[in-house]
Amino acid sequence: MKLLAPSILSADFANLSQQIRYVEMSGADWIHCDIMDGKFVPNITFGPFIVEAVKRITNLPLDVHLMIENPENYFEQFIKAGANYLTIHQEAVLHLNRQINKIKELGAKAGVSINPGTPVSSLSEVLDIVDMVLVMSVNPGYGGQQFLPNSLKKIEDLAKIRKDNNLSFLIEIDGGINSKNIQSVSSAGCDVFVAGSSIFAQDNISAAAIELKNLISSK
Ligand code: DX5
Ligand code: ZN
Repeated sequence: MKLLAPSILSADFANLSQQIRYVEMSGADWIHCDIMDGKFVPNITFGPFIVEAVKRITNLPLDVHLMIENPENYFEQFIKAGANYLTIHQEAVLHLNRQINKIKELGAKAGVSINPGTPVSSLSEVLDIVDMVLVMSVNPGYGGQQFLPNSLKKIEDLAKIRKDNNLSFLIEIDGGINSKNIQSVSSAGCDVFVAGSSIFAQDNISAAAIELKNLISSK
């Protein structure tokens, strides 16, 4: 099952409910929320308060991507706000096993993400407990950056490890995804496709979402 997760980072927040409605009607499966703290990444976005508002706009699952230091201090708030998937960065936590289990105990699905400079092998000891692995295909912090091709090999490696070990985590890609590269990422074994600017920065948001969804569904 291939899932499309539009990232509202590139949406027009003055018209957020209308823009979410567009992608909902155009095949979006999840809504991806990017949380940035100005420390783990240079940019600052929004917190649980906005996630809670998004939850009231949509019935789609919320995929909350924490690009923040000490994410464990905020698990409860984001899960209470409505996060279905809560993803932390391997680079941002000292006790990865503990934090993954904490997210699951609080009732959400736990994801773990790796930056472009972090190898898949850094996750070897947690792949049996995570619900999702998020491969960053840009250095996190901003929408609209260019896809880094080394992430394709990471997706392939994760898909192989999952198969060889009979594991069940989802594989997600985030950064620079567009209609030109989404099918190759899909063929590499990816399940969940985050797309920000290639949906919300387009003149026709619905058409852009439909195109991406068709491209992954036809594979
Ligand atoms: C980047 C964020 C992404 C971002 C992707 O740090 O994690 O989710 O919204 O935007 P695009 O699809 O424009 O690269
Ligand atoms: Zn993201």
